[in-house]
Amino acid sequence: MKESSSKRYQFFDQHPEIADFREDIVRGLSAPEPYILPKYFYDEAGSRLFEEICNTEEYYPTRTEVSIIRDNIDSLVETLGKDCLLIEPGSGDSYKVRLLLDALRPIAYLPIDISRRYLQDEAQKLAAEFTWLNVHAVCADFTGKLELPYHVESSNKVAFFPGSTIGNFLPEQAVIVLDEIRMMVGSGGGLLIGVDLQKDTDILNAAYNYKKGYTEQFNKNLLLRINRELGADFDIERFEHRAFFNEEKQRIEIHLVSLREQQVTIDDHVFHFAKGQSIVTEYSHKYTVEHFQKLAGKAGFRCVKTWLDEDQLFCVFYLSVIDHADNDKA
Ligand code: AVJ
Repeated sequence: MKESSSKRYQFFDQHPEIADFREDIVRGLSAPEPYILPKYFYDEAGSRLFEEICNTEEYYPTRTEVSIIRDNIDSLVETLGKDCLLIEPGSGDSYKVRLLLDALRPIAYLPIDISRRYLQDEAQKLAAEFTWLNVHAVCADFTGKLELPYHVESSNKVAFFPGSTIGNFLPEQAVIVLDEIRMMVGSGGGLLIGVDLQKDTDILNAAYNYKKGYTEQFNKNLLLRINRELGADFDIERFEHRAFFNEEKQRIEIHLVSLREQQVTIDDHVFHFAKGQSIVTEYSHKYTVEHFQKLAGKAGFRCVKTWLDEDQLFCVFYLSVIDHADNDKA
């Protein structure tokens, strides 16, 4: 491929199965409690709407995490160490990693993303912007098996997983995702991860419900996308956006609720929705620092350091892989 001719920019295609969209939607809508996986929010319109959400006053996570990174850059860099291989599963536009690069000076940055074109564009932009940086883009689905595109001997491999994306997974699934990351970075490796914290319910509800209606548009865009890409016939007027904090499960839940009895078709699949029946489109789990450390422990990570904002809204953790020698000592 011509584009990868520059030495600093390389592209590795692990050929993720994109054809799963239709299958995932049909499976989710057929379930006893219908759901749509939140990773499907982010088509072009959805990514734009998410950006709008991030710019609202009520949605605190993004700006809080950014300020935690900015305010603690020296301590972060010292903790991650020199000459790391920096790997970002689900890199998107690589916005947050830009805060780290100049200070961290990794030997290479490996963004991993499922959208091939988008990844190539963003990775090349980054290589042009940081003229000293090796960018090795990997097209893969990070919710599947994670493998590095080449073998690195005894390097300090660090994964970067910001944005509290880990909150989208049920706690038991989150352990599996973390475990995959642990196997990828291997012995001596680490994980810098951003996690949204438990807090006053009003603050949480405001962050996902505000008046401007971006969350509603973001949520309903899923149905528009399914109509457009899969030829479905959702009438978005017949579904209502609902977002609320579930105290028992300590998570924000986002739903699309059917406003009447209706049916929707995709190919020869017919889905019936009763009035009031809901489709779950997202869970966003909130953790305490201690609870998240415990979860990470189940995936074989030990917490080295945490950085929080003044109001303790959000936490950035540096976790390191527990090696067997440590286990033997314990
Ligand atoms: C990108 C998963 C962190 O859970 O806060 C924002 C997505 N959904 N508003 C979150 C989201 C609705 C977001 N994450």
